[in-house]
Amino acid sequence: MSEATINKARLWQSLEEMAQVGPGVAGGNCRLALTDEDKAGRDLFVSWAEEAGCTVTVDEMGNIFARRAGRDDLAPPVMAGSHLDTQPTGGRYDGVFGVLAALEVVRSLNDQGVETERPFEVVVWTNEEGSRFQPAMMGSGVFAGILEREAILNGTDEAGLRVEDELKRIGYKGELPAEPRPIHAYVEAHIEQGPVLEAEGKEIGIVSGIQGIKWFKGKVNGFNAHAGTTPMEVRRDALVAAARMVDAVDRTTRAFRPDAVSTVGMFSVGPGSINVINEQASFSLDLRCPEDEALLELEGKVRAACGEIAGDMGVQLELEEIWHSPATAFDTMVVEAVADGAKALGLSARRIVSGAGHDAKYMADICPTGMIFVPCLDGISHNEAERIEPEQSEAGANVMLHAVMKLAGTGSKA
Ligand code: HGY
Ligand code: MN
Ligand code: MN
Repeated sequence: MSEATINKARLWQSLEEMAQVGPGVAGGNCRLALTDEDKAGRDLFVSWAEEAGCTVTVDEMGNIFARRAGRDDLAPPVMAGSHLDTQPTGGRYDGVFGVLAALEVVRSLNDQGVETERPFEVVVWTNEEGSRFQPAMMGSGVFAGILEREAILNGTDEAGLRVEDELKRIGYKGELPAEPRPIHAYVEAHIEQGPVLEAEGKEIGIVSGIQGIKWFKGKVNGFNAHAGTTPMEVRRDALVAAARMVDAVDRTTRAFRPDAVSTVGMFSVGPGSINVINEQASFSLDLRCPEDEALLELEGKVRAACGEIAGDMGVQLELEEIWHSPATAFDTMVVEAVADGAKALGLSARRIVSGAGHDAKYMADICPTGMIFVPCLDGISHNEAERIEPEQSEAGANVMLHAVMKLAGTGSKA
């Protein structure tokens, strides 16, 4: 394998510059999908990609493709990338590291005059986070033909703004159709967003797959009544019922199995007046488990527990599934390319299943796919305190460089 390496200082400089776009309030970032801040981050990436000699195109979902030609330019490309949108209390590296590590691979191949057999494309996926617009990973999901384009484009945020209108507003509603095309391999570098690699002192995670994820919207309907005149035993209090359901979900998950997780991230009530018993409550629910069958079993237990509370408290419950990302196993060819890269670089590594969702999940549905993890401080993510060190970014980007060179081919034409 070639001695090519990336330029650590340049990669770190790019990460630092991107972190200035859409700053948070505590050192992280807030670049919600399709906001002006997201546009600014996209524009900065496009300017860098063009400076690196890439041909940049944008599809109808706003996915950005920065292409470096290959010797055989008609061959299916190797693709690498991630996302630039963040959570409201996002860190500097979730998604961004994967995009800029892939761009650094382009820059390093240019510096070292390496021609690849296949074209190499760096991709920025639209709305991986699913925070402002649900579901998550919508750009890659439509591109992979898994999410229905019209339904996604018509989706709205809490202010009623449509995905398609916001794409047009920020100038990223491209002409290219967002649909599957021949891709030789996809590899995504990402921070682990969990504590395992750091705890074990491992420099690289060779990601073998992604756990199953289900998202739900819960709606509880009770009855508005006077806080002072309504006896406790006749109340149909949507807020109290929903609060008990949230607690029941947490207890059910903890009792189910140690690698299952559940999160209620959003909770609202109506009318929300100090002296009115609320008739409305709604909440989000995120359930995850490494195996699909276990995820389904957990969903059944959660539904039963919440249904029992609704019956006891005389309220109605709707628990609507809004997104399902089945558990995914990555392709051996790409997983081994990552493992070989770590080995060639003398980096300590271990295989790992991703607890977080990634665009690589949808890419795995249409082409050989794998991921590279680097550790992050205390496993913190979706928090402005998210941190990695320059050396960690360098290790991950070097493994990507090796994997891309192996997958795209650099030898002379056979
Ligand atoms: O939700 C996730 O797992 C991802 O970080 N968007
Ligand atoms: Mn991410
Ligand atoms: Mn994330």
